[in-house]
Order: sequence, then structure tokens, then C-alpha cells
Amino acid sequence: MKLRIDKFLADMGQGSRNEIKEYIKKGLVSVNGNKVRTPGDKADTELDIVEIDGARISYAEFEYYILNKPSGVISATGDSREKTVLDLIESRRDDLFPVGRLDKDTEGLLLITNDGQLAHRLLSPRGHVDKTYFLRVDGELTDGHAKLIADGLRVDEDFTALPGKLEIIESGPASEAYLTIHEGKFHQVKRMMEACGCVVTYLKRIRMGNLSLPAELKPGEYRALTNDELLELKSF
Ligand code: URA
Repeated sequence: MKLRIDKFLADMGQGSRNEIKEYIKKGLVSVNGNKVRTPGDKADTELDIVEIDGARISYAEFEYYILNKPSGVISATGDSREKTVLDLIESRRDDLFPVGRLDKDTEGLLLITNDGQLAHRLLSPRGHVDKTYFLRVDGELTDGHAKLIADGLRVDEDFTALPGKLEIIESGPASEAYLTIHEGKFHQVKRMMEACGCVVTYLKRIRMGNLSLPAELKPGEYRALTNDELLELKSF
């Protein structure tokens, strides 16, 4: 893929377009050993050797991050009033987006990438990527509820859920459980819990496919996916 050299370098976090313009003016940027003259000069992301002051900058077409989404932040690419998950990611790429949505008050695992194909595969209903949530509810969760969920809930005319797995951790006036589901309908977990007569008070996604939320990531923290994690995700 051919890209303007200023975009190439900005995408790779080498500075703002203005900063890169300055590097070019100073004669620091080269493609295949030849000094770049203007920011609009092109470089091939696979074939060309791009250097700043002699240091090679390789181009990665896609970026993949795993974020522990904090509560209070919306799963959108931009918003004039609300803080978004992308505001938490320090990257100069302007094409990143969250893979699916978590509610504003939900925490946990959210993938951020610019790989539209992978996102599509993970989100497509046919992909059936399992998602596991830890939840706290007001209300008593019972083995009866686990059975209802295992059989596939029919909440009302409009909302049904494919069979899922409810693993109760604690049952009482307030309960805790893990819930694994295969879909991503709007407010899916909250609506499933409502159908069990419970109100979700805390919700956190801890797993998506074979990717678990790393224990060391605090709410608001993120890191790049490792190659192994990426390969496993892509094998879905
Ligand atoms: N289900 C919900 O109800 N909310 C989320 O954020 C995710 C799943």
C-alpha cells in the first residue's frame, strides 16, 4: 500500500504532521536512502525502507489493543460531550474503533483496533464468539435461573436469548455470578437478569472468545495485544 510519507510516519507515532514536516525540512527523513523532499511524497508500506535520522520505521497496517474499560466512558469513536474509550488510547491513528459496545456503566474487556475484517468476524452473529461477564445483581439467582438461561430465555415478543451459561458464585438478596453468552444484543445481560427478576448493579466483561481480561490491567488501562493473543483471536 502506498501512503503519503507524513501519514506513514504519523500513523507509526513519529510525531504530528507538523513535526514530521519539520523533520523533512531538516532532511532527516529518507525512503530507500533518498531524502524525502515534501510530506506528500509516497512510500510503499511493504516494499520501501523508511528512515528518520537513520532509524528504520516499519509500517504496521493494523493496531490491536485490549482495554479494561472503566465505568463512565462510552464505547464510541467520538462524542462532543462524553468521554469515549478512544480518549483513553494514546495513538495517532485516526481510524481506531471499539469492537462492539459496552454500556457506559459496564467495565471490562474491550478490543480497540482498526482491523475492520477481524471486528466484523468477531461481532457477526454467525461468529458465535463467547463473551463472559462477571455480574452483581440485586435479587436471588437460583439453579432454576441457570436452567432457564441454559435452555434459552424468551423474555418477551422482541427479546429472546440463545442458550447461555450462568455460574452462580453467591446467591442471596444480592447475588454474584458469571454469565457466558454468544450474542451481543443491546443491554443483553441486563435484560436477561431482568427476566430472572434481578437488577444488575455491577457488570464487567472478563472474556471474549479465548481472550481474557489481563489481571494487571486496571480500569482505564490498556496494552497492545501480544502476537499469540492476536493469532488465537484470528483463528476464530
Ligand atoms: N450486556 C449489557 O447489558 N450491557 C453491556 O454493557 C454488555 C452486555
